[in-house]
Amino acid sequence: MSSSSSSSSSSSCTLLIGLLFVVLLGGSLSHGQLSPTFYDSTCPKASNIVCGIIAEALKTDARIGGSLIRLHFHDCFVNGCDGSILLNNSATIESEKEALPNIISVRGFGVVDDIKTALETACPATVSCADILAIAAEESVSLAGGPSWNVSLGRRDSTTANRTAADTFLPGPTASLYTLKEMFSTMGLDTTDLVALSGAHTFGRAQCSTFIDRLYDFNSSGNPDPTLNTTYLSTLQGICPQDGDRTVVTNLDLTTPDVFDNKYFSNLQVLEGLLQSDQELFSTADENDAVAIVNNFTADQTAFFASFVVSMIKMGNISPLTGTAGEIRLNCGKVNDNSTESDGLLYSSM
Ligand code: HEM
Ligand SMILES: *[C@@H]1O[C@H](CO)[C@@H](O)[C@H](O)[C@H]1NC(C)=O
Ligand SMILES: *[C@@H]1O[C@H](CO)[C@@H](O)[C@H](O)[C@H]1NC(C)=O
Ligand SMILES: *[C@@H]1O[C@H](CO)[C@@H](O)[C@H](O)[C@H]1NC(C)=O
Ligand SMILES: *[C@@H]1O[C@H](CO)[C@@H](O)[C@H](O)[C@H]1NC(C)=O
Ligand SMILES: *[C@@H]1O[C@H](CO)[C@@H](O)[C@H](O)[C@H]1NC(C)=O
Ligand SMILES: *[C@@H]1O[C@H](CO)[C@@H](O)[C@H](O)[C@H]1NC(C)=O
Ligand SMILES: *[C@@H]1O[C@H](CO)[C@@H](O)[C@H](O)[C@H]1NC(C)=O
Repeated sequence: MSSSSSSSSSSSCTLLIGLLFVVLLGGSLSHGQLSPTFYDSTCPKASNIVCGIIAEALKTDARIGGSLIRLHFHDCFVNGCDGSILLNNSATIESEKEALPNIISVRGFGVVDDIKTALETACPATVSCADILAIAAEESVSLAGGPSWNVSLGRRDSTTANRTAADTFLPGPTASLYTLKEMFSTMGLDTTDLVALSGAHTFGRAQCSTFIDRLYDFNSSGNPDPTLNTTYLSTLQGICPQDGDRTVVTNLDLTTPDVFDNKYFSNLQVLEGLLQSDQELFSTADENDAVAIVNNFTADQTAFFASFVVSMIKMGNISPLTGTAGEIRLNCGKVNDNSTESDGLLYSSM
């Protein structure tokens, strides 16, 4: 099974080469605006290179696509899509990786570094780390059977990180629908965006620590979450014993764990959402305008895919650095040295 999925993976990458040639329109770019054709003349194979490395990584790490799209989300919600989540601790950087929503949880940095290395060989000092995350998110979805789309590009990389903002703006797994809506609204995202983007939980994993309270002590009640399907409750209690290892992971989508499809939404209808923040979309009684959207996406995968693409592009547009702002980092884990900074500005006149 893994060999058949990897062969379809590499054909998806090849397909995109063809697409990229078709897309060579050479549109004029204005500062402050992203464009799908941004690298068409400076790095036409960028998407293909990203895709190839993810397809290779998937052979040994089935959840890497989920990990990569999550990095893009956690990048964009913290002062915009500027690659800040990738910066390690240093004299000037207090890494966002150590913020509560990220620590012992975000992953995929090795694959991002592999992508960056390949891109620096193919087109030096050209493709930003922020754009790598945006492209990787799209390729990950499409390799898992989800939609493809033309990714808006031209983001530049931050020279700063903000751990406090990472602790403030990223939603937690026990968030209520009300809180989720508030937090997405702060980013300019509405309820349809919230529901569509939550659909990314159609693949990837979560640790016991993120849902264990639902199994034994929901909302400090001493009992399980009453909205959790009792069959699924027993399964999860087996995976996550009360005093067991809370870093054990399980599938966010119990039905089709590694496929990007609409099963996440049908799971919610039978009370089989893994996180409280998932089930809230369907099960909160009061003024729940999300439930109609969940029902629509369950009945209509095409509608889910179309909404997901629109919402991903919206999320990818959150406060990017463009023009000559920021830099093109040469190593995604650290800010450029002063001596190499001019390389990062090489193509800024575009
Ligand atoms: C709506 C609010 C959201 C909350 C509260 C939330 C929370 C979480 C949590 C707690 C995990 C498990 C982390 C761990 O145990 O290490 C997780 C995983 C994941 N999240 Fe979300 N998330 C949200 C929205 C999103 C969005 C918008 C996306 C992408 C568009 C996304 C994509 C993912 C993916 C793919 C995983 C699995 C990652 C992996 O396997 O490495 N999530 N999320
Ligand atoms: C990407 O853009 C090109 C050119 O505008 C278009 O022909 C193609 O259909 C688009 N692809 C997708 C998946 O939207
Ligand atoms: C970090 O983000 C917080 C929350 O948005 C903000 O109050 C603070 O000014 C930011 N710090 C820096 C150095 O940008
Ligand atoms: C959690 O408990 C508090 C106080 O007991 C209650 O007001 C609140 O509605 C409960 N929340 C949920 C999601 O059950
Ligand atoms: C619990 O899940 C099973 C399938 O996994 C489903 O048949 C059943 O209807 C669900 N129960 C509720 C209350 O939704
Ligand atoms: C889902 O919503 C879309 C957009 O509103 C609509 O075009 C489509 O017909 C709906 N699908 C179903 C099955 O209700
Ligand atoms: C940054 O940290 C990651 C691990 O989180 C490591 O793989 C990478 O090599 C580091 N990069 C730099 C430039 O130190
Ligand atoms: C290099 O950067 C540091 C701190 O950002 C600054 O203090 C120093 O003056 C810079 N050196 C050069 C040669 O630009």
